[in-house]
Amino acid sequence: GLVPAYADLPKLKKKDTYKVGFAQTESNNPWRLAQTASMKEEAQKRGWQLVYTDAAGSAAKQVADVRSMIAQKVDVILLSPREEKPLVPAVMEAKKAGIPLFLIDRGVDANLAKGGKDYVAFIGSDFIKEGEMAGEYLAKAVNGKAKIIELQGTVGSSPANDRKTGFEKAIKAFPDMKIIASQSGDFARDKGRQVFETLYQAHPDATALYSHNDEMTMGAIAAMEAAGKVPGKDLILASIDGTRDAAQAVSDGKILVLVECNPKFGPAAFDAIVKYAAGETVAPRLVNTDRLFNKDNIAAYMPESY
Ligand code: AHR
Repeated sequence: GLVPAYADLPKLKKKDTYKVGFAQTESNNPWRLAQTASMKEEAQKRGWQLVYTDAAGSAAKQVADVRSMIAQKVDVILLSPREEKPLVPAVMEAKKAGIPLFLIDRGVDANLAKGGKDYVAFIGSDFIKEGEMAGEYLAKAVNGKAKIIELQGTVGSSPANDRKTGFEKAIKAFPDMKIIASQSGDFARDKGRQVFETLYQAHPDATALYSHNDEMTMGAIAAMEAAGKVPGKDLILASIDGTRDAAQAVSDGKILVLVECNPKFGPAAFDAIVKYAAGETVAPRLVNTDRLFNKDNIAAYMPESY
């Protein structure tokens, strides 16, 4: 039977196959494409139907996408919420409609919706820890002294909020680690390039870059090289994800430290659905273990990159 903490949650009947909705946030980067591919592969493997939507970078569209999944009476919804607050109504509407929902990779505002109560569970990385890992490694590598430009992810998204928090927490112990400029590049390569270019022109004394994802990092590398600077020498780089391009940049000495954020959620998400339908306890937070890559261990990871 269901444990008491689940009393509020919609139940899921045990069936041979399910109609699963996957509400993706955008598709303009390799991380998102790898995440979608993982969901599609897993659905195909199990012979389940996948209703896939792409919010194309709009929280409002993503809310509408979830509503359409509710109208289509999917059995269960997997949601990667673009931003923490705007997607809360979608979570609550699914609950009201009796459709169990799992948050995949990103979270929603914890004061407004709770795992094990409003949605079944969050499955994803600990973004605070990712930021901490990047900050600690960087601080040690530069002997506690750096003028840092920070490229933030999408404003209002849990990875941007938490990766900032974690990094700041880690560098607090080092009084000469200073963030001298910080702005959002929306997790996108070209935006990252443009924002970095502007910030670096205003702060040519910068010695390090902390970027919330690899796509923005690759954009910043392009801007550095266009300015005649050498990434890895003139500026020390810390990044998060583990895309193929970033792994290559680690191998080439351009990125010093790369913290993993694994997008391949299909197996874990579908396993959690099966468990939930069987009435087993699903923890409200299922956290991935993220590895840290540098020049010494990147080669072994490269075949897994995307
Ligand atoms: O939510 C995870 C983040 O979203 C990834 O780091 C980023 O690349 C993606 O767009």
